[in-house]
Amino acid sequence: MAIALPKMSVLLCFCVLVMVGLVSSARFDELFQPSWALDHFIYEGELLKLKLDNYSGSGFQSKSKYMFGKVTVQIKLVEGDSAGTVTAFYMSSDGPYHNEFDFEFLGNTTGEPYLVQTNVYVNGVGNREQRLNLWFDPTKDFHSYSILWNQHQVVFLVDETPIRVHTNMESKGVPFPKDQAMGVYSSIWNADDWATQGGRVKTDWSHAPFIASYKGFEIDGCECPVSVAAADNAKKCSSSNGEKRYWWDEPTLSELSLHQSHQLLWVKANHMVYDYCSDTARFPVTPVECQHHHH
Ligand SMILES: *[C@@H]1O[C@H](CO)[C@@H](O)[C@H](O)[C@H]1NC(C)=O
Ligand SMILES: *[C@@H]1O[C@H](CO)[C@@H](O)[C@H](O)[C@H]1NC(C)=O
Repeated sequence: MAIALPKMSVLLCFCVLVMVGLVSSARFDELFQPSWALDHFIYEGELLKLKLDNYSGSGFQSKSKYMFGKVTVQIKLVEGDSAGTVTAFYMSSDGPYHNEFDFEFLGNTTGEPYLVQTNVYVNGVGNREQRLNLWFDPTKDFHSYSILWNQHQVVFLVDETPIRVHTNMESKGVPFPKDQAMGVYSSIWNADDWATQGGRVKTDWSHAPFIASYKGFEIDGCECPVSVAAADNAKKCSSSNGEKRYWWDEPTLSELSLHQSHQLLWVKANHMVYDYCSDTARFPVTPVECQHHHH
């Protein structure tokens, strides 16, 4: 009997975790809808392709908004000459004091590497760019890009390898995004004024259309219906009030695991090409949220 008891509690705990209402799917139209240029969408079974040509880019957005959880999409970026194009995958809330977590994939000329730029906006303020190249060619195959968000951190992951962590440092007076529900978005557009090699390389429209392909759409978060007041959604989506326990609030997810910390160090050492945290020309005083990276 002494052995049966812990087993039982593991089982109960598992049930509670499974029961909490989550949305998860691999199908585009269950979770998302086109937001602009519907004629630039190509549906091929499980695959969705977004097209950019000299008339228009295109984009989609989630039907719902969410607080906390994890969103993942698999993307195969524009093959060949993608210079001047940007493909973005991001979460954002609305309004002038919005929060935003961005992946922006900056195209390049044929054979030259894509760059991944990430950014975090809190209360309408961004300026937290980091840029890295990848350890694979993102135009050859699908790779998964995820954002994990809980009360303690926002983690950007590429194929489950963390490439960036934005830690909750409210205790040091740094605001952390945790009060606004966010939508999930993706788009492709022309940004040849800045995207490729600092804007020096322009989009070559003779290579259009530029196509980004998507599959494996997953949102595993706390859904926030627009009909429900923001404060009530925030209450519902927080494990700290009441009996509900969301998986992303498990203590093990309040920081990276040791293995993940090692992965992040490896990414920073080998793939990071720009970090606002070390741009002293731009920020003579190191932003407070950066200081923690040096512990
Ligand atoms: C777009 O490109 C096509 C094919 O190259 C060309 O015929 C058309 O005039 C272009 N349209 C615009 C608005 O530039
Ligand atoms: C494009 O390739 C050049 C040359 O390899 C590189 O310096 C640059 O960082 C790459 N990415 C972008 C987005 O410009």
